[in-house]
Order: sequence, then C-alpha cells, then structure tokens
Amino acid sequence: MDRQPGVSVRLKLTLTYAGFLMVAGLLLLAAVWLFLLRYVPDRAMLYNPDDRPNGVFPVRSALLEVFAPRAAAVLAFLLVFGLVGGWLLAGRMLAPLTRITDATRLTNHGSLSHRIRLPGRRDEFRELADAFDAMLARLEAHVAEQQRFAANASHELRTPLAISKTLLDVARDDPHADTGELVERLHAVNARAIDLTEALLLLSHANQRSFVREPVDLSLLAEEATETLLPLAEKHGVTIETDGDLALTSGSPALLLQLTTNLVHNAIVHNLPDHGTVRVCTGVRGETVVLTVENTGERLTPELAATLTEPFQRGTERIHADHAGVGLGLAIIKTITQAHGGTLTLTPRAAGGIHITVALPAVVP
Ligand SMILES: Nc1ncnc2c1ncn2[C@@H]1O[C@H](COP(=O)(O)OP(=O)(O)OP(=O)(O)O)[C@@H](O)[C@H]1O
Ligand SMILES: [Mg+2]
Repeated sequence: MDRQPGVSVRLKLTLTYAGFLMVAGLLLLAAVWLFLLRYVPDRAMLYNPDDRPNGVFPVRSALLEVFAPRAAAVLAFLLVFGLVGGWLLAGRMLAPLTRITDATRLTNHGSLSHRIRLPGRRDEFRELADAFDAMLARLEAHVAEQQRFAANASHELRTPLAISKTLLDVARDDPHADTGELVERLHAVNARAIDLTEALLLLSHANQRSFVREPVDLSLLAEEATETLLPLAEKHGVTIETDGDLALTSGSPALLLQLTTNLVHNAIVHNLPDHGTVRVCTGVRGETVVLTVENTGERLTPELAATLTEPFQRGTERIHADHAGVGLGLAIIKTITQAHGGTLTLTPRAAGGIHITVALPAVVP
C-alpha cells in the first residue's frame, strides 16, 4: 500500500512520555501551590524590635516570586528529561520491531529461509516473532512441496511424450514398419498421458475445495465402486466382501465416489497375484463415519506406508506388472479426505497388505 509519510511511533511514544511527565509535574506544582495558598497568609504584619507595627508584608507575592522561577526550572528539566528518556526508552522498546520488519522485507524479496529468532523471555514482541518464524517455516515447506510436485508432474508428463517421440522417430526411419502396431502403442501411451492429466486436474479440483456439499451415504458409494470394479477384481482373481452400514456425511458425491473407487482399485491391483481378498466396510463411530478398505498383499513396513500418500510415490515391487499406476491415487484420496475435514489412516497388516481408514464428520439423518 502507498501511504503518506507520517510521524514515527518512536517520536509519538517520546512525545507521549514527555507529555505525561509534564502533566504530572504541573499537577504536583499546582498541589504545592494550593497548599501554600491554604496555609500561608496573603500578607503579614511587620513589627519593629520594639513591637511597633512597621507596615504590611505581601507574603504570597514574595513567595510566588521565589517559587515561579524554580517551578519553571523544574518543568524545563522534566521536559528535557522526558524527551531524552522517552526517546531512549522508546528506541529500546521498539528495537525488536525493527528486526521483525527487516525479516518481513527479506521475505518480501523472496528469502523464505530467514528467521527472526528473537532472543529473550516471552513477551508480546517475542510472541509475534515466534509466530512469524513458524509461519515462514510452514510457507517454506509448502513452497518446497509445491516445487517438488511441479518437478515430478513435469517429469511424469514428459515420459509418455518422450515415448511417443521415440515411437514416431523409429516409424519414420523405417518405412516398412507395422503401422497397426505403432497406432496401438501410441494409443496406449496417449491413454496414459490422459490418465495422468486427469488425475492432476482432479487433485487440483479437490485442493480448491470449491465443491457444493450435500448429504452422501458412504455405503452406497462403496456399493457403486465395488460393482464398477467387479470385472477388474475377477480379472485379478480377487474376491471382494462388503459390509455396509448407513454412513451419512456431507460433501461432494462425485469426489467421494472417486475416493472410494481409488481405494477399492488400489486394493485390487496391489493385492496378491491369486486368491487375494478385499474387505470394504462402512459405519458410524461416534461423531464420525468411517470407510475402511482392507486387502491382502505384499508386506509393507510402517515407514513405507507413511510415504505412500505423497504424490508420485509408488510402492516397492509391482505384483501385477500390467498395472503401471501414475502414483497419484492415494494423494487424491488424501486431498479429498482433507477437503472434507476428515482423516486418512494407513496401517500395514501383519500378514501383508494394508488397512486404510477414511474418517469423515458424521451427519445426523
Ligand atoms: N491397497 C493397497 N495395498 C497395498 N499397497 C498399496 C495399496 N494402495 C496403494 N498401495 C501402494 O501405494 C502406492 C501408491 O498408490 P497410489 O494409488 O497413490 O498410486 P498407484 O496405484 O501406483 O497409481 P495410480 O495413480 O494409478 O493409482 C502403490 O504403488 C502401491 O505400492
Ligand atoms: Mg492407485
């Protein structure tokens, strides 16, 4: 904001301090003067040594003559003392503010790594500085995460494009190449690029939290997702069990269906090669409704499980080699859950596979 130049806070504090000191001084002098008026007579009779009256002496005016210059001197001293003392005191008090302002300027110029780290015991300025430092740390982490995400997304998007280019180069150099096969492979690569772009768009849409909320029953979504994915489950030799109690929450039906589909899809494709099982349950737990999806599969360490929700993070070995995911499924699940004010918990099962719980705020029907 463009502001008109104004009086500095240090000067204002100095003037206020000196002003108060002057007022206090004036009040004190006025009190002294009132006391004198009350107890000192206006004039006094003067007597000669032989007790003969010798005129009237104006006591008060004489006193005033002596009092006034001294009072003025005291006031002048108080003024100078107030101004100098106030200036020094205000400077000392406001010094932390200068450090905070400098740090803010640095941040404004793009340096997010700078911290104020104001020493000393807790007070209002220390609290402000600490809050500012905490905000900077969060901002820095967030920016780093965004940069990592953008770099990963670009890298992932480049892969299908680079593959297409290679395929086209090879076809151009070989005029007798099988165009049918080329078209088939280009089609597959293109489909993957579209999947990736759609996942990215979905992620950004869920992040914006700009959806309309309406009552949604998670058990119906679970049923719908399971039904849609049944052919895939059959193809992978996986059996799905569902156990759905009414679980009413409020949110976007489309996004919550996406979340459920991603969960069940993962449970099918990251399962055992044969005879895998998936259990999908919904229900109410106190103030929340929960959707749990549990599946058999490879053993996972808790450390690995903790990283799986990061974008483009894929697990170790791929059991079903034909499924080459983009690694955004769980990131989308996490973002949708958070956008609905819920929590996502991943717990590796001792026997292998994973147990995933999505808890969302319950809505009373
Ligand atoms: N239900 C599950 N059981 C076992 N491992 C899982 C499960 N869900 C996810 N994973 C592991 O977490 C990784 C990340 O999952 P995520 O859904 O984010 O990506 P993806 O499935 O590889 O790709 P896509 O974006 O196509 O879903 C997977 O590669 C897999 O290793
Ligand atoms: Mg997935």
